[in-house]
Amino acid sequence: MDMKQTIATLMYEHLSEQWNLEEIVARITPPKHEELGDLALPCFELAKTYRQSPQTIAQNLVAKLASVPLIEHSKAVSGYVNIFLNKKLVAEQILKEVLIEQQDYGNLEMGHKQVVTIDFSSPNIAKPFSMGHLRSTVIGNSLAFIMEKCGFKVVRINHLGDWGTQFGKLMVAYRLWGDEQKVKEHPIQELLKLYVRFHEEAEKNESLNDEARLWFKKLEDGDVEAIELWKWFREESLKEFSKIYELMSIHFDSTNGEAFYNDKMARIVKLLEERHLLEASDGAQVVQVGDDVPPCLIKKKDGTTLYATRDLAAALYRQETYHFAKSLYVVGNEQTLHFKQVIRVIEKMGYEWHEGMTHVPFGMMLQNGKKMSTRKGKVVLLEDVLNDAIALAEQNIAEKNPTLHHPELVARQVGVGAVLFHDLKNFRMNDIEFSLEDMLKVEGETGPYVQYTHARASTLLKKGNYNEEQLNRIHVDEEAWATIKFVGEFPEAIKRAYEGNDPSQIAKHLLGLCRAFNKYYGSVRILDDENPKQSRLHVVKSVQLVLCEGLRLLGIAAPKEM
Ligand code: ARG
Repeated sequence: MDMKQTIATLMYEHLSEQWNLEEIVARITPPKHEELGDLALPCFELAKTYRQSPQTIAQNLVAKLASVPLIEHSKAVSGYVNIFLNKKLVAEQILKEVLIEQQDYGNLEMGHKQVVTIDFSSPNIAKPFSMGHLRSTVIGNSLAFIMEKCGFKVVRINHLGDWGTQFGKLMVAYRLWGDEQKVKEHPIQELLKLYVRFHEEAEKNESLNDEARLWFKKLEDGDVEAIELWKWFREESLKEFSKIYELMSIHFDSTNGEAFYNDKMARIVKLLEERHLLEASDGAQVVQVGDDVPPCLIKKKDGTTLYATRDLAAALYRQETYHFAKSLYVVGNEQTLHFKQVIRVIEKMGYEWHEGMTHVPFGMMLQNGKKMSTRKGKVVLLEDVLNDAIALAEQNIAEKNPTLHHPELVARQVGVGAVLFHDLKNFRMNDIEFSLEDMLKVEGETGPYVQYTHARASTLLKKGNYNEEQLNRIHVDEEAWATIKFVGEFPEAIKRAYEGNDPSQIAKHLLGLCRAFNKYYGSVRILDDENPKQSRLHVVKSVQLVLCEGLRLLGIAAPKEM
């Protein structure tokens, strides 16, 4: 329930000359110290417009709030309105709302069923799935759920890197050193080995690079042998990627990658020409996109088109196919310039829908403080990471809960959840340190901790024969307030996550809820005497619902037992 909204609405009549409702909501925040109240509104800005002292304005507002049942009392203190909620009433209201709405609790309406395309994951074929792609996959997948929760229709797009000079290198390497059988058995590992070997040998022998360029040119020109090899590399890689997606329960609506736009490039170039946007520069063709950004390269000297050109074709295709209102690109920080250029070109072409295009960047995954790179083959394979996490989770289950049903399924949910949560609990722009051990701790800010708290709540409900029907029996004890407050603020966390394209808002909120609930669990005997038991179980149920839904928004499963 949105207390701020309720209170702001009451204040609005008084303040409409100065602020709109949104602005009032934005200014109501919890005061620094709990004893000052649950919420507060500073009146200093208002004082200037109304030519009254902040304290006088605060007093007027306090008078206005006197008749509101959900507010116990409010006080004007040094220019602030300090609000003390009637916790019992507010708590009961929150619980009723959650228990009636169930998994729909926190659904928001800002999307109005408009379409948002989310470009995420987008690994490069014939190369291993890097940590950067893992981050994109995890963040993009969560944003997709968050956008759906906010009323958007989401199109999930995996813009596969299935075209480019790396294929030239691979073809050369495969023809020199490759072994068909080995590639079939372990495609990614073998192709990676070839790729790494190519770079090692090319350092000694420059001509290999020329050879690679030649083979890529052959591919672009439709040479039969080149196309065949390309198709095969693509297929084998996709099979491997699918395993990873399946492990993480991630799906896409489109896997149209870069190659899909091969026959759509000429049109873009033509459109740019017609609008007189193309300029020659050193034999290449570019579009100027402003003084603060270098020009966007459209066509190279040798006539081949580029990554940016493909993204322009893709943007146009997506608008024409899906009519998106928003279009997100979840791609690492290092491509910020690229997306600035692409979006500017779309703007210069006169398409207003450029306003809906947003690059959602993120920081690096580090190991011992250093970037993890694929070039030199020093690479952690994602599938290994997930399998290690699952194996560790399996071991934990065998030690702590040997009679658990479906241990393999739960181990997968916990292992994968640990990897996902570790990423999502940090604001995406922060670099994160990769540590399997930290990810799987049951104590601390981890996925297993949240899942474990959810499982504990589920067990309590089962043991206490929780009865969903008795909503009239809600009487909340004081110890439950901190927990219920987190439950009540869940919709606000979702809104913040949406506004900042920031799933960590939800992850952090869940951690706060877990801490509050585990404290509550430690301080009252939930399953004791009959009458308060049902009420306490209502609290437990609301916690279970919010944790389950919150985890779902992060792309993480919530097993009932673990
Ligand atoms: N495959 C690219 C890479 O690994 C990422 C593609 C991102 N999406 C896009 N539309 N450019 O760098």
